[in-house]
Amino acid sequence: MYIWTLVGGLSAVGGIGLSYASAIEPDNFNVTSALENLGVDVSKIPALQSFSGLQSRSNRNGCAAACESLSFLFSTKVSAQNSTGYNNFTGSFWSVQQEEVQPHCVFRPTVNTEVSTAVLLSRYTDCEFAARSGGHAAFTGASSAPGGISIWFKDMNEVALNDDKSVASIQPGNNWLSVYSALEPYGLAVIGGRAASIGVGGFMLGGGISYHSNLYGWACDNVQSFEVVTASGVIVTASEFSHSDLYWALRGGGNNFGLVTRYNLYTIPCPEMRGGARTFLQTEFTDVVNAFINVANNASADGHAQQYVAFLQTGGTNLALAELTYTKNVTNPEIFKQYRSIPAVADTTTAKTLVQYVEYLEADNPFGLREVYWPITVHLNEDFANWIVEVFYSMIPQVANVTGSQPVVIYQAITEPMLKKMSNFGGNALGFDASTGPIHLMHLSCWWTNESDDAIVYSFVNSFWDKVITQAKSLGLDNDYIYMNYASMFQDPIASYGDSNKALLKSIASKYDPKAIYQTLQPGYFKLDGAPVTGSF
Ligand SMILES: Cc1cc2nc3c(=O)[nH]c(=O)nc-3n(C[C@H](O)[C@H](O)[C@H](O)COP(=O)(O)OP(=O)(O)OC[C@H]3O[C@@H](n4cnc5c(N)ncnc54)[C@H](O)[C@@H]3O)c2cc1C
Ligand SMILES: *[C@@H]1O[C@H](CO)[C@@H](O)[C@H](O)[C@H]1NC(C)=O
Ligand SMILES: *[C@@H]1O[C@H](CO)[C@@H](O)[C@H](O)[C@H]1NC(C)=O
Ligand SMILES: *[C@@H]1O[C@H](CO)[C@@H](O)[C@H](O)[C@H]1NC(C)=O
Ligand SMILES: *[C@@H]1O[C@H](CO)[C@@H](O)[C@H](O)[C@H]1NC(C)=O
Ligand SMILES: *[C@@H]1O[C@H](CO)[C@@H](O)[C@H](O)[C@H]1NC(C)=O
Ligand SMILES: *[C@@H]1O[C@H](CO)[C@@H](O)[C@H](O)[C@H]1NC(C)=O
Ligand SMILES: *[C@@H]1O[C@H](CO)[C@@H](O)[C@H](O)[C@H]1NC(C)=O
Repeated sequence: MYIWTLVGGLSAVGGIGLSYASAIEPDNFNVTSALENLGVDVSKIPALQSFSGLQSRSNRNGCAAACESLSFLFSTKVSAQNSTGYNNFTGSFWSVQQEEVQPHCVFRPTVNTEVSTAVLLSRYTDCEFAARSGGHAAFTGASSAPGGISIWFKDMNEVALNDDKSVASIQPGNNWLSVYSALEPYGLAVIGGRAASIGVGGFMLGGGISYHSNLYGWACDNVQSFEVVTASGVIVTASEFSHSDLYWALRGGGNNFGLVTRYNLYTIPCPEMRGGARTFLQTEFTDVVNAFINVANNASADGHAQQYVAFLQTGGTNLALAELTYTKNVTNPEIFKQYRSIPAVADTTTAKTLVQYVEYLEADNPFGLREVYWPITVHLNEDFANWIVEVFYSMIPQVANVTGSQPVVIYQAITEPMLKKMSNFGGNALGFDASTGPIHLMHLSCWWTNESDDAIVYSFVNSFWDKVITQAKSLGLDNDYIYMNYASMFQDPIASYGDSNKALLKSIASKYDPKAIYQTLQPGYFKLDGAPVTGSF
């Protein structure tokens, strides 16, 4: 942690070392000369001596040449297959599906211009790449490139404050534990994630639901600016006032526009926290759902409260766990009164610091399992919310024979104050209309053991949500929005933002990345034109 001194405003942070910030990517863009501008002379790189940049993508030598070039330029920052550094990368994803991916090499840049060089070398050699922050996206190839270059931000991990401490400049090698730990001594925090190991990088670009979101909005609605490596290697700072179209697009548009090397986030006072999970038996479920609905509808009355309710089955017993968080150290806040009146079989509520809170929630989300996250949204409605719980429990037997399976349905609300803050700083790309009232966000998460059971799990989740969506439509409660940060590889979040937002995102992408490098040479995760995986399960 260090403090930087502001010279000429935050935008001075972007564009360091690059002299041609005027055109992002001209028609006659020349990768060779763009590399030259970064001090990289391709004619001096042995691996590129006999390499023609015009070779077709199907030529697998492209990635060998790209990785050897990166090694030549950056030696210890590149890990080849089977090396300790490589195994450290593949072995530390949250889901097994991501751990199974074998990139040609792993590149750990330390400065933004090295990220530019990697993107340009990928273009020169036609080698696919992916980028990883926390590695929490659950499905294959989301943040690691099969046979390609996986860029790991791990060593770009600064957290710095501007001189009046109103903005924290955070690099994508951080997770929320490292961010909160760095800011806590200053009595500060930012609007970030709720579990320790979630990365800053992916979380910020999909939206970002925080403990503080009823007071301040989603994480993407509290960004001062993004420092972005564009497809031509040019580094720009996107804010409300500079490249404001790109700034809007990055607030929900995911990895389609560039690689973000700094997230400049508005700070908030570091809250004292109090909270934990109250666990209820099935006899109390209708009361729990009623409390969930009331607290969601009350979000404007007391923004310090945050809640989610998880429904699951353990040892044959159906349970609801209500995680009730308050961002002040207040015992028995009024807003959770109804939940407290429902008899609980366990209650872990304690005072915690923010750092302690994210460590405590981390324990519920072990690494090293096969995983799926799969969300939908509907309009908030109590009878329907009760009906969905019943349908879920009636369908659990479908995965009873799946070794190690643990399906969970989690209820959250996208509340009125969250929706209102989405118009901060010119608005975001998510496509919400605040006048529609609170939205019920739910996701099914499941972990299991064997790859041979993948299809059973995916078709279980798909048929569950099919049933729910069909019923929602018949009741007029359906809603298109799909939350990118929770979306499965079978879903298309960008389409769910609405036709006009999708069209705008595509036109912004074609301005900053006319060759659609971030959508084609970086094929993983949610692209502007469709789900990562289409077809049957
Ligand atoms: C246990 C758990 C708890 C969670 N809790 C929350 C929560 O409280 N609130 C919430 O909103 N969500 C939550 N999520 C969802 C989480 O926000 C997403 O999984 C998110 O994608 C994680 O970001 P990451 O950086 O760890 O992921 P990664 O897998 O590293 O990245 C996800 C995608 O973003 C891209 N990306 C990453 N960094 C950059 C960058 N710097 N520039 C451009 N693209 C980049 C990657 O290439 C990849 O395509 C949770 C998920 C899990 C598994
Ligand atoms: C691209 O730039 C390199 C180096 O400056 C130059 O040698 C080459 O001729 C250029 N290519 C084209 C197609 O202009
Ligand atoms: C890495 O190890 C695996 C399994 O031991 C082996 O099949 C593969 O060929 C090795 N790859 C390299 C590049 O050495
Ligand atoms: C990766 O390296 C870090 C730091 O050396 C270590 O803490 C971690 O356990 C390693 N993880 C794996 C999966 O090798
Ligand atoms: C929270 O408040 C309680 C009682 O009011 C106090 O004893 C405790 O020290 C506080 N904890 C924190 C972490 O501030
Ligand atoms: C919350 O909602 C309930 C039910 O609608 C209401 O009675 C209560 O007064 C509200 N206020 C607060 C602060 O929670
Ligand atoms: C689970 O296995 C049992 C025993 O083999 C079988 O009778 C049952 O039909 C299976 N259930 C499902 C949903 O496949
Ligand atoms: C599934 O996993 C269990 C536990 O690891 C193992 O015993 C079993 O053989 C596996 N089944 C299949 C079909 O792979």
